[in-house]
Amino acid sequence: MKVLVIGSGAREHCLVDKLSQSPKVSKIYCAPGNGGTAHLAENIEIKADNLDRLLDFALKENVELTVVGPEIPLAKGIVDLFNDQGLKIFGPAKELAKLESSKVFAKEIMKKYGIPTADFKVFSQPKPAKEYIERKGAPVVVKADGLAAGKGVMVCESEAEARQAVDTIMGKKKFGEAGEKIIIEDCLQGQELSLLAFSDGETILPLAASQDHKRIFDNDQGANTGGMGAYAPVPLLDKQNFDKIINEIFQPLIEGLGRENKIYKGILYAGIMIFNNKPNLLEFNVRFGDPEAQVVLPKLKGDLADIMLKTIDGNLKQAKVEWDQRSFVCVVLASGGYPGKYQKGKEISGLEELEKQKDILVYHAGTKRENEKIVTNGGRVLSVVGSGLTLKEAKEKAYQAVDKINFKGVQYRKDISDKAFNKS
Ligand code: AMP
Ligand code: GLY
Repeated sequence: MKVLVIGSGAREHCLVDKLSQSPKVSKIYCAPGNGGTAHLAENIEIKADNLDRLLDFALKENVELTVVGPEIPLAKGIVDLFNDQGLKIFGPAKELAKLESSKVFAKEIMKKYGIPTADFKVFSQPKPAKEYIERKGAPVVVKADGLAAGKGVMVCESEAEARQAVDTIMGKKKFGEAGEKIIIEDCLQGQELSLLAFSDGETILPLAASQDHKRIFDNDQGANTGGMGAYAPVPLLDKQNFDKIINEIFQPLIEGLGRENKIYKGILYAGIMIFNNKPNLLEFNVRFGDPEAQVVLPKLKGDLADIMLKTIDGNLKQAKVEWDQRSFVCVVLASGGYPGKYQKGKEISGLEELEKQKDILVYHAGTKRENEKIVTNGGRVLSVVGSGLTLKEAKEKAYQAVDKINFKGVQYRKDISDKAFNKS
């Protein structure tokens, strides 16, 4: 079977790696891919948001399964487009990709199905939004409705900051159309975690829980990034709260949508905050997380292509899965200056030696091959994943591997997974 993976991050390299292990898969294309996917797949120079060219390519090459990494093609309706041509593609239809692409849509669904989430109100004008902020007081969270590359959420410590956030989104239109509506919601405190599950519209197959590290510096300091590391599983999530997430969040959503003849197929990602020892839903995403995929997919021992096909065909119940009992810790190596301005084209050394190590996985993101060399080509450059019988061992392995890799300006967090045992 020929498979097309869309995207260019470490998440997509991890997907390509996992799919390449399937006996069903004979050939993988990756559009546009990176220096790492080039090893296992044929990189195709088509951008992830160029839906028409992706469709032409899939038709021409008789691609039998397409797997979408990032949210933009899903929000633009790639699943509907491919399905209309009889092509199998893994992900939700445009109507349900709105669970990620419109926070207003998502919050209204949560309310409708009684899913635990922070109280909120929706505004399309700045004045009533500011009046509401005054009534509510700080801290308070201001969110742009649409996709804003992870920057549309502002957790505000003071009312002044929250008013400013409203002006940034609605006055200065920093996020364009994505900010035509805003949500103002109560601020929750606690530890965050991500739970991702396959759904075919009926069966829910959860992956291990994981925890992302969004800030650039140790101890969650500095600017937000695409994610600087992750680990799985998450010890702070006990069985009781895991069951609650399934029974009070995933199940009501999938069933509620089903009653309206909306069939959610693909990966559903719940961003959870454990607040007062109860899981609250912060957000839904409609795809694998990055860097979460890099620690949860290695735990899955089944045939990923088969699970994806069964998801598409509505047979997920029949999927065979086993779990690797080990823990995984992913450290992201980023270019100096990221998430601000950074330089590209720095030679990366030390990768070859790690290829032979069984307990280390290295997934590429912003890299490319230049002659015989691998050079940096983006903000987040590599995901280095260590595995071990305990999180501690996995962390040690990951950082030993990180020490072997070098490029000019490299930066990374030193505390990935330390939060695992911190209950606050
Ligand atoms: P979202 O895209 O909605 O998940 O928001 C991005 C980040 O903002 C989350 O990962 C949280 O760190 C933070 N956040 C979102 N909503 C809230 C909330 N109600 N209370 C506290 N923090 C929040
Ligand atoms: N790691 C967060 C995300 O993929 O959205």
